[in-house]
Amino acid sequence: MIGWLAVLVVAIVLVIQVIPVERNVSTVPPGQSFEKTEKVPANVAAILKVSCYDCHSNNTRYPWYSELQPAAYFMAQHMKEGKEELNFDEFNAYSKRRKKAKITSIISQIEKEEMPLKSYLMLHSSARLSADEKKELLDFFRDNEYSK
Ligand code: HEC
Repeated sequence: MIGWLAVLVVAIVLVIQVIPVERNVSTVPPGQSFEKTEKVPANVAAILKVSCYDCHSNNTRYPWYSELQPAAYFMAQHMKEGKEELNFDEFNAYSKRRKKAKITSIISQIEKEEMPLKSYLMLHSSARLSADEKKELLDFFRDNEYSK
């Protein structure tokens, strides 16, 4: 019984590998990017890159298991949803009103420790924000022209 179940699970895992993997990698230079237009200091840019850009930019750094289903599917869903809500690479194309709403939301998501997503931190421990990093981000975003 257990033997058949194992065979079945392996068969399903093999079959779903044919589901195509969506890639979030853009070769277009990000002319509308947050970093270009908001004078982001190097320390803040580095934190954003590690902790936020996998889901909130046009370029994701893919780990090896992203080649495998169903991991690839769940990652693609997160990226799609995350980018729809907030895309740092397209920030400058947002309306002023949207920019303000996003900056306010970024501050509250960081304060409440809702971002980066918990499920993501399990596999990407380096993306976890230390107390210092949290402060660096909050100081920067609270000081941003759209936070007022
Ligand atoms: C694993 C992917 C992932 C990572 C990494 C991630 N986010 Fe998100 N983020 C999402 C998803 C998915 C949503 C939309 C659903 C939700 O709110 O849970 C979201 C929503 C948001 C929102 C809400 C936007 C709105 O319209 O109110 C903000 C702000 C945000 N993220 C900021 C950040 C910041 C800042 C970081 C880095 C410190 C970060 N996120 C890291 C996936 C991610």
